[in-house]
Amino acid sequence: MQTADGNGLVLTEQLGAVRLLTINRPDKLNAFTPALMRELDDLLDDAARDSATRVLVITGAGPKAFVAGNDIGGLIELDGVEAYRDMQRGQRVLLRLYEFSKPTIAMVNGYALGGGLELALACDFIVASDTARFGFPEITLNTIPGWGGTQLAVKKMGLARAKQMVLTGRHYTTAECREFGFIHVFAAAPELKSAALAFAEQLAVHDPFAMEMAKRTVNRAGEIPLNAGLDLEAANYAVTFGTTAARERLSAFAARRKPKNVLAGTSTSENSK
Ligand code: COA
Repeated sequence: MQTADGNGLVLTEQLGAVRLLTINRPDKLNAFTPALMRELDDLLDDAARDSATRVLVITGAGPKAFVAGNDIGGLIELDGVEAYRDMQRGQRVLLRLYEFSKPTIAMVNGYALGGGLELALACDFIVASDTARFGFPEITLNTIPGWGGTQLAVKKMGLARAKQMVLTGRHYTTAECREFGFIHVFAAAPELKSAALAFAEQLAVHDPFAMEMAKRTVNRAGEIPLNAGLDLEAANYAVTFGTTAARERLSAFAARRKPKNVLAGTSTSENSK
């Protein structure tokens, strides 16, 4: 069942362990407004708190767009200081998504431009249809990406590809982006939702705490020196190793018996902001 929260700018659908959020401004190709970002931020709170939600999927309403970027009409009204604040707000929400305690998937059904591409890159995975188009058009507006795009693009596709996308400003096809290495699953448009949900189900079966620790640890790679990263990895390994969920799996494997379904804990992360 799909429900509209707040102003209905983002729709929520619960599909078993998967929470699907749909950015809902199809007449404006789902372009972001401050109100929409606030609603998305609140819905991230809900999804973080809900222990039944194991995976978050984000998509755009309608057949044409995932998100065609920040609302240009609204941007024109801002002075320099307001624009700076708008970029800080956008970066905060997208960084929060990048560090979200549960795995996240962008289900990209059409244009993912500017802030829309930044949203997709902030997710752990991108599942894209053959009709998707990706790009950073900001340079064609004589400006640059401001919600983390320059940094996330380098992390997700490497310096050379990131420069290509940011400095050309053109739209790239799903096939091109698969070669760039940041599309995880590809589907024909009619099969996009089932492909995204099938991928989400593969993630949803794993212990939520182990998933959170795995994601948190991988996210630190490249941000801290290798030796510090290895120390962090060993410590986080030890924490997951000590949970009842891990003990049960390890003992069941050693005893050649079917494991019981034990969770590491039912509390959800407070650290999703
Ligand atoms: N901000 C505000 N409105 C937007 C928008 C954006 N980023 N992107 C699309 N829209 C609106 C259009 O103004 C239009 O509204 P209208 O029907 O009231 O005039 C509607 O969405 C449909 O877009 P349209 O341009 O008519 O569709 P198209 O198929 O001809 O082109 C795009 C699609 C995506 C190529 C084109 O809309 C576009 O280039 N959008 C801007 C993308 C961008 O620069 N994003 C980064 C912003 S920083």
